[in-house]
Amino acid sequence: MPDSRAIVILTGAGISAESGLATFRGPGGLWEGHRVEDVCTPEALARDPALVHRFYDLRRAALAGVAPNAAHEALARLERSWPGDVLLVTQNVDDLHERAGSQAVLHMHGALRSALCAACGERLRWDGPLPPGSVCPACAGPALRPDIVFFGEIPYEMDRIEQALSRASLFVSIGTSGAVYPAAGFVRMARACGAGTLELNLEPSAGSGWFDECRHGPASQLVPAWVDALLAG
Ligand code: OAD
Repeated sequence: MPDSRAIVILTGAGISAESGLATFRGPGGLWEGHRVEDVCTPEALARDPALVHRFYDLRRAALAGVAPNAAHEALARLERSWPGDVLLVTQNVDDLHERAGSQAVLHMHGALRSALCAACGERLRWDGPLPPGSVCPACAGPALRPDIVFFGEIPYEMDRIEQALSRASLFVSIGTSGAVYPAAGFVRMARACGAGTLELNLEPSAGSGWFDECRHGPASQLVPAWVDALLAG
């Protein structure tokens, strides 16, 4: 039974594009000739740890030069002002939602400013470069890796996400191509449980046909306009 005031929002790389962070599949989506699928796998990490660590070191370093945009800020305002639950589920590994002020954020694909110990599972805050072989402070194993959910690994927080989707009355997808599962399946899960569904994206995504409504344009315009209208009732 949906809770009439519970909202689940899924965000992807498109919401951070106007902050200056490249998306994965659009122009500029290649990194030194590599597709993200070739870098973000456990096999790539085993084969060439220096390459994979460098890929994420550069992305972590890039965070210092970017700031949240009007779309991140509008979602933080929604969380502060909405009289019900707002859960933000992001596929993004940047920290722009938190820097805009959102608090209920689940990073289902991990986080750049975090390291994961492949030996003991410890996750810890990490800000600088993370060379292969960095030592875990918890178990002393030389096994720290970027805390990113690679292709073939299970995303974080799936139980909480599925529970929230099952009781949401509204599901909104922002800035994601709908190319990567399980996130691409959230719209169908939410619909099946009775939620209304809305897509806000620059262009139709792979899953556009599943949404009740789609609005196309830049997130920095669409998201504040949607939040303003929702809060105005
Ligand atoms: P993609 O790069 O696949 O898609 C970004 C989407 O954002 C596209 O549909 C663009 O049209 C849209 N877009 C671009 N600029 C926009 C703007 N200014 N306003 C609104 N929309 C805009 O990124 P994701 O869908 O997030 O996983 O990719 C999903 C996952 O694939 C990522 O989390 C990552 C990647 O592999 C991991 O790293 C594990």
